[in-house]
Amino acid sequence: MPYTVPKLTDFSASALASAVRDLFSALDSESVAVHNDADWKSFRDRWMARKNGILTQVNDVWLKAAPKEVKRDVGQRVNAVRARVEEQVDSIRPKRVFSFRRSEGRVVEPEPAVAATGARGPTVIISEPRPLDISLPGIHRPIGAEHPVIQTMNEIVSVFRNLGYSVEEGPEIETDYYNFESLNFPPNHPARDTQDTLFIANQESKPLRERLLLRTHTSPVQIRTMEKLKPPIRIVIPGKVYRNDPPDASHSPMFHQIEGLAVDYNIKFGDLKGTLDHFIKALLGSSVKTRFKPSFFPFTEPSAEMMVSCFICGGSGWRGNDPCRPCKQSGWIEILGCGMVDPNVFEFVKDNGYDPKKVSGFAFGMGADRLAILKYGVDDIQLFFQGDVRFLEQFG
Ligand code: PHE
Repeated sequence: MPYTVPKLTDFSASALASAVRDLFSALDSESVAVHNDADWKSFRDRWMARKNGILTQVNDVWLKAAPKEVKRDVGQRVNAVRARVEEQVDSIRPKRVFSFRRSEGRVVEPEPAVAATGARGPTVIISEPRPLDISLPGIHRPIGAEHPVIQTMNEIVSVFRNLGYSVEEGPEIETDYYNFESLNFPPNHPARDTQDTLFIANQESKPLRERLLLRTHTSPVQIRTMEKLKPPIRIVIPGKVYRNDPPDASHSPMFHQIEGLAVDYNIKFGDLKGTLDHFIKALLGSSVKTRFKPSFFPFTEPSAEMMVSCFICGGSGWRGNDPCRPCKQSGWIEILGCGMVDPNVFEFVKDNGYDPKKVSGFAFGMGADRLAILKYGVDDIQLFFQGDVRFLEQFG
């Protein structure tokens, strides 16, 4: 006969003790019959279910029915019964263990199995993990390769490193002061319009020079470095820059530049020409020729654009019977902007030893993505940023 909670008529201490003893012995004998998860669940429900579980019955039949004068005593015993039942249910709960099955080098869903929980516990069902077979082929994880733009930047930087230049970096979120003002773009100067700027929103309450924007070129790092290091300096500055250009085959709102700056006590335009001519020959081969064409940048004076003889058609303007597209048949390709540092720029860092009467220097800046496009014959800059592995793995 399964145990049922008896009604009590006698609430004396000895009668209570004997009722509790009967209940515990039923609890123990039913525990032993629990062998698996399903057994345990019905055991738990029989003893602990809110609705009509044995504990609930004990509460109703013993405690609620107890006369006032023994309520306290009965209450204590009922609490002890509850604690013991809860502990018992908990301690015989079958533990879940997980074993992993090997399947083609992939970890598959764990298979639950029931494990032993000690003397009173249920049957042990542990599935043996299969031994590791080291003769199986390994899991191939491609390690990836340097991105073509990064490769190009590294090559450019290493040419300058070999000339004794060091590498500097600066923030991509820049202030109006570093991106424009200190580079001799006065407020409202039309030269600001040549760089379609992405401004950070809600900066209107700040003074103009403190307002934030995404840097449109790496040139702000020229000033940042001159504030930090005294002359003479020779630095290159690789980094990301941003402009409000809608993306197309030759434009991207984010692209990469490499900037250079050399300041010393006797630097002349000839130094600029010699350095940049050497640089481009080291990068593209000694057969290319260079040419400097007058240009304008607010922070250099005089300013120039360096052209290289087209290394795709060899300067002829033709590839077989087809016109050469990269140089638009001109035989020359515009590679970078450069010039002698404008004395107005030195004025901003005069206090750190850059007296425009004493020092002079040259600066240059080039688009790394554009150079990568030319170098690898890629026809769309977007390919660099779409992350298509079929494109990227060709550069591995
Ligand atoms: N910062 C200029 C640009 O982005 C390039 C440049 C750099 C020109 C240094 C001259 C000197 O167009």
